Amino acid sequence: MTASIIAIAASYLLGSVSFSILFARLVRKIDIRDHGSGNAGATNTLRVLGKGPAALVLALDIAKGVIAVVLGYALKGDGMAWVPVACALASIVGHNWPVFFRFKGGKGIATTIGAMISLAFVPVLIAGLIAIAIIAVTRYVSLGSLIFAVLLPLILAIGGWDRYMVWGAVIVALLALLRHRKNIVKLLNGTENKLGSKKGEPH
Ligand code: G3P
Repeated sequence: MTASIIAIAASYLLGSVSFSILFARLVRKIDIRDHGSGNAGATNTLRVLGKGPAALVLALDIAKGVIAVVLGYALKGDGMAWVPVACALASIVGHNWPVFFRFKGGKGIATTIGAMISLAFVPVLIAGLIAIAIIAVTRYVSLGSLIFAVLLPLILAIGGWDRYMVWGAVIVALLALLRHRKNIVKLLNGTENKLGSKKGEPH
């Protein structure tokens, strides 16, 4: 049990390492949360810093989720199938509310991709491909992110995955909805930023 608690706490701390904030500080000496959409994530890094830094932030934010789940599998006790799922959630919570950056972080989608693909490869692939198609057509990353997060628990439930996975994915979807509430308002009133647009306003 102690090892599992350590894995969950370590996953939260790992998730709290916000690469978009660190890169923006390093490259431009700015706080990314004061620029673009104000979000500490890969999409806003693309807006504010460009393609190279955005790709790196995306990869590292995905890696945080992967490492958290690997840690969960490595340290879980016998019959504790919920631990890797809890580690996945902890890494996403860390990314969204990072202890190292005054609890003001990102929206958790890249870390969700990394964590959930390590737990359920095919369902994430299906939801991910649908999301990519939606982003390609609409150029709204937030819409693709939301559809990805909402589809995941449905695909897992239809696929007969265990209850930890399905309920874990429901919590992931609720976290995504909570963090995207301003995007949802903007999508509804037609003012959401499209991919490639430099516009945006800090929250
Ligand atoms: O994953 C974040 C994305 O869904 C929206 O980011 O910066 O456009 O609010 P942003």
